[in-house]
Amino acid sequence: MRKLLLAVAICALAAGSSAVKADDPIVIKFSHVVAPDTPKGKGSEKFKELAEKYTNGRVKVEIYHNSSLYKDKEELEALQLGAVQMLAPSNSKFGPIGVKEFEVFDLPYILPDIPALRKITNGPLGKKLLALLEPKGMVGLAYWDNGFKQMSANKPLRKPEDFHGLKFRIQSSKVLEAQFRALGATPQVMAFSEVYQALQTGVVDGQENTPSNMYTQKMHEVQKFISHTDHGYIGYVVVVNKKFWDGLPADIRGQLEKAMAEATAFANETSQKENDEAFTEIKKSGRSTILELTGVEKANLRKAMEPVYKEMSGRLGQGVIDEFLKESSSVTH
Ligand code: LMR
Repeated sequence: MRKLLLAVAICALAAGSSAVKADDPIVIKFSHVVAPDTPKGKGSEKFKELAEKYTNGRVKVEIYHNSSLYKDKEELEALQLGAVQMLAPSNSKFGPIGVKEFEVFDLPYILPDIPALRKITNGPLGKKLLALLEPKGMVGLAYWDNGFKQMSANKPLRKPEDFHGLKFRIQSSKVLEAQFRALGATPQVMAFSEVYQALQTGVVDGQENTPSNMYTQKMHEVQKFISHTDHGYIGYVVVVNKKFWDGLPADIRGQLEKAMAEATAFANETSQKENDEAFTEIKKSGRSTILELTGVEKANLRKAMEPVYKEMSGRLGQGVIDEFLKESSSVTH
């Protein structure tokens, strides 16, 4: 795959050098893995609209939804090679390129709510994390929300024992791997675009995701039960190829920063609504039963996943975990 991407990048460069004229628009290829009708899909469309407007058409944004260009891991490699310019991978997907600290967002129950998240992403830790991307050839422009994750399977998942022996699809995060092992389940890393079929054919028994991702990929049609656990969070970092970004004329970069700031506000104001609506649609469909857990059930699940913090402290750095907990708990609700 790396060879293929390299070939794509070389062709793109060759084509570019002979064909680009002074008045040709600057093209930003924005690749992502989810459906258009999701928080990230809508955020990307908003960015396109504003970027093209503010630069008077000098920039053209081409959006590739639903893994139509690249899957999860490939898209990060494609960005590093310059075959695409912009992505918004989830925090859980930066480990394989060597920025494992973003997996702190995956620790079970680390975020009580969105104000706590905002405190992190707008604060010193959020900035420190983005700085780790630069040596990897990318610039982190913004944090976009999706929302809280729910667990699904073909059997009711209410207590830790219910997870025993089941196979769950996970994103490429060691924290998520540890989370499912703590529950006695077997985690399996898989690209997002392959999850529906893997659930349908029984390659995996269950998965965790936000209602908007489950609904738009029709996962609820192949999972009989969804437990309303809110045990984890999915959010994104909008990243751009550093060489491309640094090489832009300063006025264009300024307009794109403005477009990104507004698209971010839009995406983060609407994500909760998107997820609430998706949850309602799933309920209405009658294809999957949504299980509300009791306080005791929630506490027991939380307790079963607690060892993950200690287990992952070497990987993430205890300092990062402590800073995360301190900054997020200082929110007044
Ligand atoms: C997943 O792989 O489950 C999610 O990260 C997909 C996404 O981009 O929301």
